Amino acid sequence: MSGFHQRVFSGMQPTSTLHLGNYLGALTNWVAMQDTHECIYCVVDMHAITMWQDPADLKRAIREVTAAYIAAGVDPKRSIIFNQSQVHGHAELAWVFNCVARLGWLNRMTQFKEKAGKDRENASVGLYAYPNLMAADILLYKATHVPVGEDQKQHLELTRDIAQKFNNDFGAQIAERGLGTGELGFFPLPEPMIQGPAPRVMSLRDGTKKMSKSDASDYSRINLTDDAEAIAQKIRKAKTDPEALPSEEKGLEGRPEAENLVGIYAGLSGASKDAVLKQFGGSQFSGFKAALVDLAVEKLAPIAGEMRRLLADPKHIDDILGAGADRADAIAAPIMREVKDIVGFVRSR
Ligand code: AMP
Ligand code: TRP
Repeated sequence: MSGFHQRVFSGMQPTSTLHLGNYLGALTNWVAMQDTHECIYCVVDMHAITMWQDPADLKRAIREVTAAYIAAGVDPKRSIIFNQSQVHGHAELAWVFNCVARLGWLNRMTQFKEKAGKDRENASVGLYAYPNLMAADILLYKATHVPVGEDQKQHLELTRDIAQKFNNDFGAQIAERGLGTGELGFFPLPEPMIQGPAPRVMSLRDGTKKMSKSDASDYSRINLTDDAEAIAQKIRKAKTDPEALPSEEKGLEGRPEAENLVGIYAGLSGASKDAVLKQFGGSQFSGFKAALVDLAVEKLAPIAGEMRRLLADPKHIDDILGAGADRADAIAAPIMREVKDIVGFVRSR
């Protein structure tokens, strides 16, 4: 990706409380990347309304997700934190990309198929075009690195396809204006970064299903707002198998629940799964779960506490989002002006 300034962009939807999957799969990565990259972290409220959201709940969720970012360690001074709808370039570039991306590309998106379910005719057009908006989020800042969980990989591939097609379709205009860098086009091809400590956290009730906000059972996930008591109960009730823990990673094969709990322990402690199994190999789940409860409460309860403290002052959160939107717009606006010129729009004011 040489030739482009290294810049990180990522986002989460304010559709409900964040959970351990969001934390280990994405947020911990976001926090670490602040040391090495310029980082932009977005609360993607425009993505949220691709499915129905109660307006009052949406406002609450936008502030709650912002509080979760900060409580988990994203620093609003070092990084840009803002909500998508306050920077109009996202909608503008998404429209251009609606005209670059092909129907055939979107038809392959598995997340749309999952979310639309059986009643596809009744899904919103926004849900279908969602990946184009996501590509716009990233490319509006010419971001080069995108830390996400594994489930977003396909959307990142689409983002690269859109960037490449735009660079090709408008190659002459880009070259004429000196806006491409050597071999590279106008937009970088962003790299997905999926190396979080636990890129795929599974449900506590079923080790073959992703931990998800849409699971009907609250016992399937640990929410970032859960207090110590709730965290402990959910881990104690988590599904396991009757065997003791193996002492090597290959012993986890075919044992999805065991693998998931070991992965969660590894993610929270910063150790590898191998190291966790060296320590707990041969133990029964009861002993391992007790250690996991202690670790999870130690790491997660302070985040919930900090979120509560931040949410008690919504004005302060809104100020952070406003300042972040100004900083984001300062990067986005000149890029959007170039895009409009490249595609042939006239600007006369
Ligand atoms: P979502 O809550 O689906 O909008 O996801 C927000 C971010 O968290 C994305 O980067 C996802 O890939 C990540 N994520 C969501 N669920 C999980 C999970 N169960 N395991 C790992 N990462 C996840
Ligand atoms: N689609 C992502 C998710 O559901 C959220 C998202 C929207 C995003 N725009 C993004 C993630 C840009 C990374 C970069 O989790």
